Amino acid sequence: MATNKKMMRTLAGEVLETPPIWMMRQAGRYLPEYRATRAKAGDFLSLCYNSDLAAEVTLQPIRRYGFDAAILFADILLVPQALGADLWFVTGEGPRLSTITTQGDFDALKSVTDIHDTLAPIYETLRILTGELSDETTLIGFAGAPWTVATYMIAGRGTPDQAPAHTLRQENTALFEALLERITLATIDYLSMQIEAGADVVKLFDSWAGSLKGADFEKYALKPCRQITAALKDRHPTTPIIGFPREAGEKYVGFAKATGVDCVALDNSVDPVWAAKNVQVDGCVQGNLASRHMVTGGQALIDDTRAIVQAFSAGPHIFNLGHGITPDADPENVQLMIDTVREG
Ligand code: CP3
Repeated sequence: MATNKKMMRTLAGEVLETPPIWMMRQAGRYLPEYRATRAKAGDFLSLCYNSDLAAEVTLQPIRRYGFDAAILFADILLVPQALGADLWFVTGEGPRLSTITTQGDFDALKSVTDIHDTLAPIYETLRILTGELSDETTLIGFAGAPWTVATYMIAGRGTPDQAPAHTLRQENTALFEALLERITLATIDYLSMQIEAGADVVKLFDSWAGSLKGADFEKYALKPCRQITAALKDRHPTTPIIGFPREAGEKYVGFAKATGVDCVALDNSVDPVWAAKNVQVDGCVQGNLASRHMVTGGQALIDDTRAIVQAFSAGPHIFNLGHGITPDADPENVQLMIDTVREG
């Protein structure tokens, strides 16, 4: 089917003259208009659940920069909340959740069929966006991958080395695997509803995939991603899926084949020339400019942007950062990156 959406053409395997561009966390605190809308909503979670304001902040970077894709404004931790975990954000520190470390904690979680009451405003945000976006802009839905979501549910917060989750995995494997399965099934239904509400493509964020080593990477990164991809392909065969096993290193090789995803997102620890040869051989890749260039700018930003475009130019490539843009970024550096990608 013909489409005006550059990113959808790239995901279908086409090699365009200039790659489509979007940016992780493109709606965020580096933008004054985001900070103003967030203040109006009260706090971050109220913004996520206010469909009109969430749609508004999703559109802000599209209006300002003309990105090729809009990403739903929400958070990966809404799924734990929909499963019954308490969730709040501590300013300047990050997320806090009630923890799941015992069978009793797990038994108190809601069943998968009960998540949609909480998540209904998210589907409404997508419906609003389908009416607002031009026919050239791809709409991206997303969820956290089960391992990454589980690390927050087990620890009750972000952790540098995911130690609490690794401990539970070793000491109570059955409980750990039951939790992963519950998140997996919830994620399938959540993403399926996002697609029905208008998402053109969905992305699975496995931000902590890099801490799974050896056979654990297969069991807890590849397998849940494969299960989610297979179920979504069954229900929505034409919707592409992007996988982001952040800091997977050598394990990026073969990731698309092992999971069935249509595109692999690369973090910036990966050398683009290496990734073109070893990852892009299997299909579309996304990435992978270091986010710090959005703070520092200048010739280094231009040089690294050009090098990434060049390295991936022989195959399908979606230009992006290697991780989210940070609050201290300069909005003008984002424009410089876009101009460099589009004008060479
Ligand atoms: O990319 C986008 O613009 C879409 C929206 C989006 C957010 N979070 C908004 C957000 C997406 C895709 C996410 C994913 C997410 N959330 C991940 C995976 C990607 C990654 O960054 O590794 C993770 C691990 C989370 C959990 C989370 N949410 C943390 C750890 C934090 C606090 C850190 C921080 O930057 O303050 C958040 C908060 C959050 N999620 C913000 C935004 C815009 C900042 C909240 C604010 O406005 O104060």
